[in-house]
Amino acid sequence: MKTKNLMVTGGCGFIGSNFIHYLLRQDDFTGRIINVDKLTYAGNPDNLEGIEKNYPDRYIFERADICDPGLMEDIFSRYGIDAVCHFAAESHVDRSIKDPGAFIYTNIVGTFNLLEAARSHAGDFILFHHISTDEVYGSLGKEGLFKETTPYQPNSPYSASKASSDHLVRAYGKTYGLPVTISNCSNNYGPYQFPEKLIPLIALNAKEGEKLPVYGDGRNVRDWLYVEDHCDAIWTIMKSGRRGETYNIGGNMEMENIVIVEMVCDMLDEITPIHRGKNGPRKNLITFVKDRPGHDRRYAIDFTKLQNELNWSPKESFESGIKKTISWYLENSKWVQRVKNNEYHSWISEQYKL
Ligand code: NAD
Ligand code: TYD
Repeated sequence: MKTKNLMVTGGCGFIGSNFIHYLLRQDDFTGRIINVDKLTYAGNPDNLEGIEKNYPDRYIFERADICDPGLMEDIFSRYGIDAVCHFAAESHVDRSIKDPGAFIYTNIVGTFNLLEAARSHAGDFILFHHISTDEVYGSLGKEGLFKETTPYQPNSPYSASKASSDHLVRAYGKTYGLPVTISNCSNNYGPYQFPEKLIPLIALNAKEGEKLPVYGDGRNVRDWLYVEDHCDAIWTIMKSGRRGETYNIGGNMEMENIVIVEMVCDMLDEITPIHRGKNGPRKNLITFVKDRPGHDRRYAIDFTKLQNELNWSPKESFESGIKKTISWYLENSKWVQRVKNNEYHSWISEQYKL
């Protein structure tokens, strides 16, 4: 992968920032990263603290909205962008249910703008890698796994907007011959995840002895992948994946939500007894709340294509990954305090009314 000027969109978000940390450590990446991020509520420059200083010639930050086509074209020209790794998105299902508009603009129109910029620089352009989700495939019953050939059946405005962007990327490959790859990944967890998502939300509430909201009966299943394994899979696909192809990425780690919540409670009880005058095990804080509308029951990924073609498989076990994650949130209280700003508090109180 001989990219000289790689545009990473959404590099201040959870997976994007992990990817930038990961990529700058790889011997087989020698190019420069141009991180394009609008810094929405989910974008946090703290996730990349020290990067500008440590890699002054290899990292540039551009605060920009991918929904602005003129600006995207300008950034492509100015930096000679020859590849894109596209993370930027509105990413939270619950927010897409409350307010779908931003998901349509950023996830669909924003992706279209980037594809157009890439198309207009087609001569020098090496790869457009699009980061997507397994949620485009809809919901599974008790049996079966999502394959790359599973028909799309998105159920939330979030997954519908991601499905739409996947189709656009694929179409630009077929119609214009743009070199594209797409990856559809299962649920990630790890450092720098915004605490509106299940694992960091539960870990931080449990730490503080606050209620732990579990949707419906808590028996919905997700397939969990440690974020660093996701980054490794993305780079593997960018380097060696067949152009025009889609690759599923998963953790082989199906878990019911309630099992994860209980595990996080037990781990925190072991590390630190509950405080603020609250007694008993943290499991007592579990509160079943009204289910999410259209809540997908089960996701599970078949990633044999990635395994067989590119020899990738996840390295981190859930036990060690979740331990590292919990420790990271406990050790980074400054990061947590800064993330829990007014917008965060109003979202949480509006969403849960616990
Ligand atoms: P995130 O919400 O943590 O980060 C999104 C980033 O995109 C933020 O930095 C935000 O500022 C930026 N952004 C949003 N709108 C923008 C715009 N209009 N212009 C420029 N930047 C903008 O998301 P994440 O969890 O890191 O997810 C990254 C990607 O991975 C998304 O495309 C998501 O669909 C996909 N994905 C996520 C998961 C998961 O478990 N989190 C799983 C599979 C796929
Ligand atoms: P989430 O982290 O929002 O990811 P996604 O919806 O993209 O899979 O949610 C993961 C699972 O946890 C999902 O089944 C919804 C559930 N959930 C809760 O039970 N309580 C919560 O507070 C949150 C945020 C999620």
